[in-house]
Amino acid sequence: MNSPSAYRNLPPLAGICSLDEAMKPGLSVEQCVARLKRYHYAFKRLHEIFVARLTAEPIYELKMAFSLHAHICAEHVAALRKRVGEMREPPLGLEEIPDPNLEIFFDEILAAPTTEELIVALYAKAVPALQAALENHLCETNPLADHPSVRLCRFALLDFANLLKYGAQAITSLTDAKRRAANQTWIGLLDECLAAAGGLDGTQTPSGNSVTRQHSAKPFQFDARPRRDERFPDPYNMGVNAEVFLYDEKFPPEPKTLMMFYKRLREIDVPEMMASIITETPGKPWDYYRDMTRQLWDEARHAMMGEVGFTQLGVDWRKVMINFTWSLALNTQLKPIERHAVLYFIEQGLMPKNGKRFEWEVGLASHNPLSALFQDYDWADEVLHAKIGRDWYLKEFSDAKSAVQYGDACWSRILMGWKQWRDDGLTQHRNWWPDVYRAACERWGVTPDPKVLAYATTYETVRADLKAISASA
Ligand SMILES: [Fe+2]
Ligand SMILES: [Fe+2]
Ligand SMILES: [Fe+2]
Repeated sequence: MNSPSAYRNLPPLAGICSLDEAMKPGLSVEQCVARLKRYHYAFKRLHEIFVARLTAEPIYELKMAFSLHAHICAEHVAALRKRVGEMREPPLGLEEIPDPNLEIFFDEILAAPTTEELIVALYAKAVPALQAALENHLCETNPLADHPSVRLCRFALLDFANLLKYGAQAITSLTDAKRRAANQTWIGLLDECLAAAGGLDGTQTPSGNSVTRQHSAKPFQFDARPRRDERFPDPYNMGVNAEVFLYDEKFPPEPKTLMMFYKRLREIDVPEMMASIITETPGKPWDYYRDMTRQLWDEARHAMMGEVGFTQLGVDWRKVMINFTWSLALNTQLKPIERHAVLYFIEQGLMPKNGKRFEWEVGLASHNPLSALFQDYDWADEVLHAKIGRDWYLKEFSDAKSAVQYGDACWSRILMGWKQWRDDGLTQHRNWWPDVYRAACERWGVTPDPKVLAYATTYETVRADLKAISASA
């Protein structure tokens, strides 16, 4: 229907939709809020699962994808909380479980016994169910009256398009038809949960059947021990001290870019560690989880910058022994607040002159524009992380100095079993540096510099902030 008052063929209604579309009855505020709360619950549980499963997930690519997907979900949770708060609804009731069968649905996925089952449940069941609910919302709500929700659903669907493309590829790459067939009973249970809940959005008639828990019959236990895939063959190796090399003025900037790419790739251990803080710190405001998960994703990005850096240099990063000793030690020896203290201590230490600015300057001086670019953003991200630390860690203390000292003390307390790991046969702390440096020199077409080639300082006595490791550690 054309409005008789239409003006010179301008689109009506700010271009949102036609006048006809804006005349449909749509959802009432009450119906809309009831659905939004279910999407909110679904995003919150998806975030929880992606975070809780990334530390012990061995496959590097999945760790990185889970980091991104957790970040995406955390952002949409925040948007939905805000939207529900706009809808005449105090008390908001956002911490309530909208349906016990939905709780079982997500509990089951959280407890999926293998990576294969986990990714099928996430990317072929849970996310598509939420996607369908959001699409349904767009079809059924009044696009003018409920435009803020419409916009929010569209953003979420945009993110989901990429997420599901990744998920579909992951399922094809990592599972086979035989495994998927063996999985059918459990997948059927997930369908039963949704049917009993009246669909994810609660718009269907509930099946009336009761659902029996399978994998979630026992409460989920978070596995804090980091795991890595076969491309990380020497995860206890602390044979090459990157920081001592980086800050030694006698070494030129070009090989220092290699060391910085190593430092970046090694940052996989930060998501592994932050996932444990997030998972084991309940009861915080949502902005805490949102900020911490943003940082977790940034750290994953930094790791991938390292991967890209090595690839650009034509150096096979499997030659670089990326350890997990830091996340392992923190996750198994410290309480969540103590881990956060160590993180804060390290990150605020990156802000002075010999920290992130220095790394960026080395990148510039090395004539490797990619290294300079990555360090530029790494620095910007770390400034944000220092702020997140001030917002969520520092506030636990009466003054900044004691917060920093506590972080230092927590880090000094952890046992990095350099000798123990060697004596137990877990690693020889092999010096992998000469091989990697030689490979890069070949690509650069230069002869290796003998003093760079001879670099052989380990982490035995000097930790990453260049402090001497105390005799007890
Ligand atoms: Fe970092
Ligand atoms: Fe970083
Ligand atoms: Fe950081």
